Amino acid sequence: MRKVMLTGDRPTGKLHVGHYVGSLRRRVELQNTGDFDDIFIMIADAQALTDNADNPEKVRQNIIEVALDYLACGLDPEKSTILIQSQIPELCELSFYYMNLVTVSRLQRNPTVKSEIQMRNFEASIPVGFFTYPISQAADITAFKATVVPVGEDQMPMLEQTKEIVHKFNSVYGETLVEPKILLPENQACMRLPGTDGKAKMSKSLGNCIYLSEEPDEIKKKVFSMFTDPNHIRIEDPGSLEGNTVFTYLDAFCRPEYFPEFLPEYENLDELKAHYQRGGLGDMKVKRFLNNVLQAELEPIRNRRKEFQKDIPAVYEMLRKGTEKAEKVAAETLSDVKAAMKINYFDDEELIKMQTAKYTEA
Ligand code: TRP
Repeated sequence: MRKVMLTGDRPTGKLHVGHYVGSLRRRVELQNTGDFDDIFIMIADAQALTDNADNPEKVRQNIIEVALDYLACGLDPEKSTILIQSQIPELCELSFYYMNLVTVSRLQRNPTVKSEIQMRNFEASIPVGFFTYPISQAADITAFKATVVPVGEDQMPMLEQTKEIVHKFNSVYGETLVEPKILLPENQACMRLPGTDGKAKMSKSLGNCIYLSEEPDEIKKKVFSMFTDPNHIRIEDPGSLEGNTVFTYLDAFCRPEYFPEFLPEYENLDELKAHYQRGGLGDMKVKRFLNNVLQAELEPIRNRRKEFQKDIPAVYEMLRKGTEKAEKVAAETLSDVKAAMKINYFDDEELIKMQTAKYTEA
């Protein structure tokens, strides 16, 4: 079977380190293994509009930001097709047919949609488009016959919904759609990287994210103001790792080679953690280390981004080409879907013969 990777992001802001450890880094690694027959990376602007209907300008402005962040991280348009969701009308058509296979109560049970409704104070008036976005996401995934979808844990319900639609479709209309597998981040820290203030959700309005394009002094400022263990007051005090943002970030970012480079008195992260828990290791020292690690990780990304920023028309051209290529694939799937559902009247000679026979006297 063909191996196809697909994933995407809503263009509502620049991408941050949470996106990076949650999925972007993995995508680039997978891209570079050469194991995939096809890779599709979707800028999900239509999905972003499901809860930003009154703010299309925000979505429009952020398409280029997300594209630049992708390129900066090492997604290579020669290997990965980067596309803009709204420019592929086949996705809407697929969604429309999938809607017949999903119940309202099933959508109401989706935990991610539930919590997003709360977050946005939509309780009293949920936009229908927002409510049904898990169905549109199933269209995104199945249109490209994706077999692997690397995403964060919060996307698990979307993948479940997609699998159900695939099963239902295939059992009603015959084997047509491909079932995708979710690929979750490598550890708990990558799964849900907290904001620098220790709060679960990174958000622009809280000012608690480190962006991939962040300048070095900003990174440093944010690292040094990070939430640690509030009870770790004197250096001699034993410190706790639980909910300690600095250590969570180290779990997500630290590589073995950073110890000889930046903190040679420790062998590895386990040793550093043990010392912190025992007492005698100050927060400042750990923060200084984390700052060095993050600077080393983000510098090449920031520099590559600056190169791509020099030719914005070329980035749009890359997006146009990727979208065109992707549309061809989606159109093939849609044609399979319509044939399976027997709504391909004009391509179906059997149908015309049959109806002719019906009205021909024996
Ligand atoms: N829902 C995803 C997010 O909020 C974005 C997305 C849209 C996506 N379509 C997708 C992810 C298809 C994976 C596959 O991050």
